[in-house]
Amino acid sequence: MAHSIPGLTEHLPVDTKHAVARWERWIQRESASTFIAIDDDQIVGFAALHAIREVPDGKTIGELNAMYVLPKYQQLGWGRTLWQSCLVEAEQREWPDVVLWVLESNEPAKGFYSSLGFVPDGGQRVFSESTSTVTYEQRFRFREKGVGRAL
Ligand SMILES: CC(C)(COP(=O)(O)OP(=O)(O)OC[C@H]1O[C@@H](n2cnc3c(N)ncnc32)[C@H](O)[C@@H]1OP(=O)(O)O)[C@@H](O)C(=O)NCCC(=O)NCCS
Repeated sequence: MAHSIPGLTEHLPVDTKHAVARWERWIQRESASTFIAIDDDQIVGFAALHAIREVPDGKTIGELNAMYVLPKYQQLGWGRTLWQSCLVEAEQREWPDVVLWVLESNEPAKGFYSSLGFVPDGGQRVFSESTSTVTYEQRFRFREKGVGRAL
């Protein structure tokens, strides 16, 4: 069960406090799973997965909504290991697909997801918009019986 950390969270900047509260709620959700990578008692990465209803057919699939590895630990296999835990979870929950949204400009992450067997499925949405720039996110999909099962 998630809880605040006395002596730490009360000194955090307001935005961080909101983020902590959001994660506390997230971790307690029945339809969500969060995995952490630990090296020498330090959290070096995490991945978060939850259930969504696919539009328009209403089937339940997984969405990988966070994947992060500390810069110093990148390119060492931690991201793949986190994904493997997510994939086992998706199989146990019988989610046929796992999708994720990634910034179109995030080429390193797109390369990472491709090497795990994710492919772009044509989905696109606006991430942010200003008078001069529109930033898009692209949807990638991992199909249970699709290309490149990467365990
Ligand atoms: C994307 C991220 C999670 C990858 O984690 P990682 O631990 O560095 O990845 P791994 O070392 O496990 O690499 C797994 C595979 O992805 C490939 N890969 C990793 N980074 C890559 C890159 N920048 N470009 C292309 N392929 C890459 C590796 O070559 C490896 O393939 P292989 O096993 O076939 O050799 C990590 O770089 C990160 O946290 N980035 C910043 C946050 C971010 O952008 N998250 C995604 C938001 S949608």
